[in-house]
Amino acid sequence: MTTRFRNRVTELLGVEVPIVQAPMGWIARSQLASAVSNAGAMGIIETSSGELDIVRDEIRKMRDLTDKPFGVNIAQAFVRDSSIVEFVVDQGVQLVTTSAGSPTKYTGALKDAGLTVFHVVPNLVGALKAVDAGVDGLIVEGGEGGGFKSPRPVATMVLLPLVVSKVDVPVIAAGGFVDGPTMAAALALGAEGVQLGTRMVSSAESPIHDNWKQAVVSAQETDTVFLNQHTSPALRALRTDRTNALEFDTKTNAMGLFGTAMDLYFGGDMEAAIALSGQVAGRIDEVKPVADIIRECADGCLATLADLAARYQ
Ligand SMILES: Cc1cc2nc3c(=O)[nH]c(=O)nc-3n(C[C@H](O)[C@H](O)[C@H](O)COP(=O)(O)O)c2cc1C
Repeated sequence: MTTRFRNRVTELLGVEVPIVQAPMGWIARSQLASAVSNAGAMGIIETSSGELDIVRDEIRKMRDLTDKPFGVNIAQAFVRDSSIVEFVVDQGVQLVTTSAGSPTKYTGALKDAGLTVFHVVPNLVGALKAVDAGVDGLIVEGGEGGGFKSPRPVATMVLLPLVVSKVDVPVIAAGGFVDGPTMAAALALGAEGVQLGTRMVSSAESPIHDNWKQAVVSAQETDTVFLNQHTSPALRALRTDRTNALEFDTKTNAMGLFGTAMDLYFGGDMEAAIALSGQVAGRIDEVKPVADIIRECADGCLATLADLAARYQ
């Protein structure tokens, strides 16, 4: 294993490159996650689809596809079955990320079972609560990121250094990361790793329909909408006719109009459902293999740090 990035995140996760692929329902399965793990970063298998039998098979497939570490996510709001902890422990993975819920709920049981637990937080209060609950680390997610969000979004640029200044546990930054310079910025702000969501949705190994990937590629930075700020759960998604109509609608819960996810995810109908994606879609202009994404982030990050060190003495 190379040691170019040795820090608490690489040590805890057992990876060469401190990049975590975001968990994403139906998307974060073995095809994508094994490509990430094989590239030296951290592949994550989702459970938010709720399809636990399929997820179990996907985890089995991971063992054939990679001998590198990978983790599992529990998105608490979407997997309400409390046997999920037992399920995850039984899979024999070392890392679990928990999100979309209270860190006090599962951290104790997961830690007792010997797992490394990183909890996703959208604000400082959540971060302090997670640390109190005994997590090993935090994933600090800014409001520019794709997916389900706090209804009071805080940009990564503000949230990340704030949280880092108040906690001692290692932090992985999420929301807006896509390349070497953004990864270097995360390290400069005190993170020890980054999590990539939208960049991974639009990777070659992502199993979603090419129409979604191409919609990310053609999106501008203004082409996401933040929905449901008046209620819960808030979410950030690509601007389409469906989501555009909901952007300033404070009477409707957008979840009721989420649509038929499978027609979007695998049928490619961009109006069939809400396509969760982050603002960083505006910086993605090509579908790339995961190995290239990880290599470019890692090399570009170190090149950026070296360049800055040389320019500013
Ligand atoms: C399609 C999609 C699905 C997501 N599903 C989940 C999920 O199941 N669990 C979770 O913790 N985060 C989920 N997220 C949030 C991501 O984990 C990640 O933190 C976020 O995408 C980072 O911001 P970025 O999109 O700017 O990279 C999802 C994001 C996207 C784009």
